[in-house]
Amino acid sequence: MKKLVVLTGAGMSAESGISTFRDAGGLWEQHRIEDVATPEAFRKNPELVLRFYNERRKQLLTVQPNYGHKGLEKLEKYFDVQIITQNVDNLHEQAGSSNILHLHGELMKVRSTGQGAEVYNIDPRNIDIIVGDKCTKGYQLRPHIVWFGEAVPEIETAIDIVKQADIFVIIGTSMQVYPAAGLINYVPKGVPVYLIDPNEVSVNSPNITVLKKGAIEGVKELTNLICK
Ligand code: OAD
Repeated sequence: MKKLVVLTGAGMSAESGISTFRDAGGLWEQHRIEDVATPEAFRKNPELVLRFYNERRKQLLTVQPNYGHKGLEKLEKYFDVQIITQNVDNLHEQAGSSNILHLHGELMKVRSTGQGAEVYNIDPRNIDIIVGDKCTKGYQLRPHIVWFGEAVPEIETAIDIVKQADIFVIIGTSMQVYPAAGLINYVPKGVPVYLIDPNEVSVNSPNITVLKKGAIEGVKELTNLICK
């Protein structure tokens, strides 16, 4: 089976009702990155940071995977599909995709701030993390999110996957955040690249086919193009 590698971003989940970060009205217009998404912010005002992610989690519980997520799952009949997502939601999982690598962490997990950095699943019935919630060793819990200024531990794994791609697909990312955006540079020469996004995104690739559509329509069209 050919390997179909898909890099997804916030636009993948937009039609499920989760707002993106950088579109008009997006999350980073309503919250400053420096206030809620950096290790310094967590040191300075952990309550605010925890509340921000508690809200994200609460919202996640109200939405469903869309036909874009589901369409990617269906492609597993024809391809060895590997999803590399920058999203911290679990909508690819809910849609049933088998291979998902989260580059920027996962909303429904927490991590210890202690040396071990143990990761725990969050009970969907009790999604709020507050100051004072500790791991079994007594360290404060934090969101299992890669914040700005932190290393992206899964990037090497992602690079290895991209190097094996027979087809590479980009869906709903502004390609502004590194190192994720740099993954395009590891796509092997000659491999076709498809870009699904309703807006202009600058991607440097000689073999690119742009599908200027939302994720749902775009995945439908992609399926028609590659499953001929
Ligand atoms: P952005 O908000 O930067 O980009 C979202 C992209 O989705 C844009 O290119 C939009 O045009 C596109 N888009 C909007 N609606 C769409 C739709 N219906 N279907 C398909 N695409 C659509 O989000 P990301 O590129 O994912 O990191 O942002 C990357 C990282 O920056 C995030 O993972 C997050 C953020 O800060 C952290 O929080 C660590």
